[in-house]
Amino acid sequence: MNELRASFERELPGINAFLAAEADKLDGLVREVARHTLLSGGKRIRPVLAILFARALGHTAGDVTAIACAVEMLHSATLLHDDVLDAADLRRGKPAAHVRFGTTEAILAGDVLLALANKLGAEYDIPRLNSLLAQGIMATAEGEILELAHTKAPTADRGAYLRIIIGKTARLIETACRLGAALATRDRAAEDAAGEFGLNLGIAFQLVDDALDYTISEDEMGKPMGGDLREGKMTLPLILHLEALPQPEAAEILDALRENRLTVPQAEGILLGIGQKGLADRTREEAARYAAAAVKALDGLPPCPEREVLAQAAAYVLSRRK
Ligand code: IPE
Ligand code: IPE
Ligand code: MG
Ligand code: MG
Repeated sequence: MNELRASFERELPGINAFLAAEADKLDGLVREVARHTLLSGGKRIRPVLAILFARALGHTAGDVTAIACAVEMLHSATLLHDDVLDAADLRRGKPAAHVRFGTTEAILAGDVLLALANKLGAEYDIPRLNSLLAQGIMATAEGEILELAHTKAPTADRGAYLRIIIGKTARLIETACRLGAALATRDRAAEDAAGEFGLNLGIAFQLVDDALDYTISEDEMGKPMGGDLREGKMTLPLILHLEALPQPEAAEILDALRENRLTVPQAEGILLGIGQKGLADRTREEAARYAAAAVKALDGLPPCPEREVLAQAAAYVLSRRK
């Protein structure tokens, strides 16, 4: 992982300085909300991926920072909106923006960040970048809406789950990779290889997130443990648990989730079952298959040092604990 760590150490100061400068140009309360979200300890995975793909495809200029930061702004906007949708009060170990500044304020600041990301993209005068940014925003919002609908009518359907995590998470990571590629080259096959990497990495990323939700304490993760069950979210550990239960018991849990009447003993039983059956680990195994597909997609890139770094990123996603 040394090369990956070195990439983060090299790129983070530029990313953080750019985001701080952009936030400081905003007005009033939006500025405070943007600063709270943009500068509160995000891992910066998406911007670093954008930079790595730009470099892998031969882009040497320093102007990559703005498009990389545009992706981080999209990500931050989705988090601002997501914490309102999920009524989640904690983000990265701190009060979520909507708790600190108000719901309307958080939503509007999210909108400002979406627009600012588009503006930064437009300044390159490469229409493909704006098309990609727009597709990333659309797919994320569509994934979030799919998940909302699915939470109201939950089923233990792996296909539905996969569609949701592709939309809400993987598409934006794919967008990050494609943006870096599209800055470097008009070669669509190279951009598609970047996209294939990002999509698979993104699926692995969310699968690991969903495994962590059932295994990692709030102190380590920065968001409450068991939050997905509390939010009624049908993630893979829970799907695997339901698949292993006798049909009437599974149906009763689905009914309780749909009607928002899961009891504390029921929830404890689910957490225990998932722990005893090792279903978080089974979820990680599934993630490993997608991470391997991501690494395979790197064959579509020319030989370059970044290929090894990107392969390390796939390994990091599997081993991360926050
Ligand atoms: C959190 O993404 C939202 C998900 C897609 C699970 P990250 O885990 O990349 O968030 P930060 O920016 O590093 O906090
Ligand atoms: C992650 O959503 C994807 C987006 C934020 C769009 P989740 O709701 O699953 O992620 P956390 O748990 O809030 O980070
Ligand atoms: Mg959430
Ligand atoms: Mg959510």
